[in-house]
Amino acid sequence: SLIVPSVQELAKQPLTKIPPRYVHQHHQKPLLISSDDTSTLSVPVIDLHTLFATAYGSSTYYSELNKLHIASKEWGFFQVINHGISESLLEDFKREVLSFFKLPIEEKQKLWQNEESQEGFGQLFVVSDEQKLDWCDLFYIFTLPHSLRKSQLFQKLPPILREKLEAYSMEIKILAMAILGEMGKALGIDNEEITELFEDGYQSVRMNHYPPCQEPELAMGLYPHSDAGGLTILYQLNETEGLQVRKNGNWVSVKPLPNALVVNIGDTMEIVSNGVYKSIEHRASVQSNMERLSVATFYVPNMAKEVGPAPSLVAQHNVANYRRVPLVEYYKGFFARKLEGKSNLEFMK
Ligand code: SIN
Ligand code: FE2
Repeated sequence: SLIVPSVQELAKQPLTKIPPRYVHQHHQKPLLISSDDTSTLSVPVIDLHTLFATAYGSSTYYSELNKLHIASKEWGFFQVINHGISESLLEDFKREVLSFFKLPIEEKQKLWQNEESQEGFGQLFVVSDEQKLDWCDLFYIFTLPHSLRKSQLFQKLPPILREKLEAYSMEIKILAMAILGEMGKALGIDNEEITELFEDGYQSVRMNHYPPCQEPELAMGLYPHSDAGGLTILYQLNETEGLQVRKNGNWVSVKPLPNALVVNIGDTMEIVSNGVYKSIEHRASVQSNMERLSVATFYVPNMAKEVGPAPSLVAQHNVANYRRVPLVEYYKGFFARKLEGKSNLEFMK
């Protein structure tokens, strides 16, 4: 990967204009729909306790499962509450991530990305010196399977952050598997197919810090894209809004709810669902006077597997809307391209 400067350091300088590498063309930045409209149009909220603790087949269970199904089809995004991850773990992890980004730049430089690896502080998907950059510093790390963990990198993390990250990562895996299981039920996929595909999945964690920006209307925190993996689970660490989801040609802001997590369908899950669930474009905006922090956890099938529509669904639908390919092939070039739109799905048709 190409090494980029720290946006946090840039944001500290008394600039009135941001450097050209961070200025996006106006046409690339469609407007957010007005807040009057967003009050009637917002990403659905799913109560997971209702799904996890209510008898399968009861009307309460069924109506919540239906909400999850409709959200996955029509939004590709939903927020979950009562997800079972304890408030105290979320608070502890949040505190550690906040102080991690507050470390002096000299400390962060020890963890900066290098040419060989995407992991560490920096930015992802930087493929050329001319390319526009995001107004965001991030820290990216592989967390599962354990064999993929770079022990040198883990050992350099502040010990409490490392401990909380490990706990959070385990909880998120359990949650991702539980949500995937419910999606499988809603779609009518054989349970073994979901388990077989995802149980030994790959997990990576991206911690994002979006510093305040002198020209927020010209910059992007994160360029519009869809996620390549199965499920992404996002923890919005503070109240600052920024995540926006494409809906009917507009952008809808996902307002952070206390103790909620945002779940979205990635391209892989769109494929597994044979196109019933949608992997939706989203982006992050920045603000002039407020920073924003978030942690995205990506859960994807093990690289040794193949990706394609679930066989039990193809049997129901009588048609496969995507090809079946080894995941290695599917991911080839993923990091070698600029992250943009739904480029991964096109070649699977
Ligand atoms: C964010 O909302 O900060 C990140 C969104 C993403 O992971 O695409
Ligand atoms: Fe994303």
